[in-house]
Parts: sequence; structure tokens; C-alpha cells
Amino acid sequence: MESTATAVRDSSGIEKIRLLRQNNRVGKLHHHAYMARDMEATRHFYEDILGLPLIGTWVERTNPVTGQPDNYVHTFFELADGSCIAFFQFKSADSSLAQSVNKFDDVNPFAHHIALTVQGKDTVRYFKDRLAKAGVQAFETDHGYCYSIYFHDPNGMQVELTTLVPETDEMMGAAGSTAHETLRRWLEEDDLATNNTHRGAGWVEA
Ligand SMILES: [Fe+2]
Repeated sequence: MESTATAVRDSSGIEKIRLLRQNNRVGKLHHHAYMARDMEATRHFYEDILGLPLIGTWVERTNPVTGQPDNYVHTFFELADGSCIAFFQFKSADSSLAQSVNKFDDVNPFAHHIALTVQGKDTVRYFKDRLAKAGVQAFETDHGYCYSIYFHDPNGMQVELTTLVPETDEMMGAAGSTAHETLRRWLEEDDLATNNTHRGAGWVEA
């Protein structure tokens, strides 16, 4: 029987990426956690606008970081694959603010964002419309290998909703074959040309 290493070596493109994925010991995202300024506003945003059900609310009276008595809540909003977007809010607003990485100001996408998958550009635009009706502005970006909108949640966290596109497999297959070489060259060279040949317009305020 062909060994996994041989199968990976003899494959290429998207098939190689799939084989590597099957042998990855680290599985899907369990949760991503962030500080909430206002948990009810956060619940409304994720549950009522984006449709992620609140599936768990844990009240914690001991802080595992300090080992001291405390009072905070930890909530979990579930994605379609069973992973979650999670939040903390402390009973003390000062404590929440002090421990928020962005002090609840709007974060720029390079500092931090989380990208969640949706199915197709129609769904991207469905959510853009829902967000607009709720007074949340979202910007479209064509990354070439995926198509996205970006917006801020009530805590200033930037969220991206993105869909795969017909070119995704071909582009990711090619990228997977050259990823190490491209990284080595970018680190060594000061003016390496882009290899994202399909990137479209930047921020499209449509
Ligand atoms: Fe992203």
C-alpha cells in the first residue's frame, strides 16, 4: 500500500493540498474568542443578523488567569460546521475595557479579522443587504481566490464573510505548489511582483 508520504510527494495542485489536510492532526476551529463590550448587542448582531445561534452561556466566578474570584460570562455562537465564535464580558465594564485588545475601537483588517465561509456571491450579498438594513456598512473585496465583504461587529472586531469562487481550486492548487518558494523569495527580495493574477478591485463601496 502506498505510504502517505509517497502519495503526497507524487501528487500536485489541489489534490496535494487535500492529502495534506487529511493527515493534519490539528482539526477544525473549535472557537475564536474576543471581548464583548455589550453582550446583548453582540448576541443581537451574531444571532439575529448573521443567524448564528447562541448555544452556550457560561457564567464564571473564578478567573483562571489570576486564580481570583471574578464575574464574567462566556458565550458561544455556532457556525455551520459546529465551530463557534465566542465572547467574554466581565460584570465590571472597566475590566472588559482593560482586557479588550482594541479597547472596542474599530480594528483595521491587517491588525485582526476573522473570515467565515458562506456559499456563493449571492449569499455574500444577502448578508451585505441584511447588514445595511441594520445600519452596518460592509465593503466588498475581490481577492481572486475568494470574494468577501468586511464589516465591524459591535465590539470593533472585524468580520469577513467570504465565498469560494470557480477559480479557487486552480489558484489554491498552484499556490500550494509554490508556497515555500514564494515565501523564501519574498523574504530575500525587496521588489517581488505579485503572484495574485486574479485579484480584482480593492475596497468596493457598492
Ligand atoms: Fe481575510
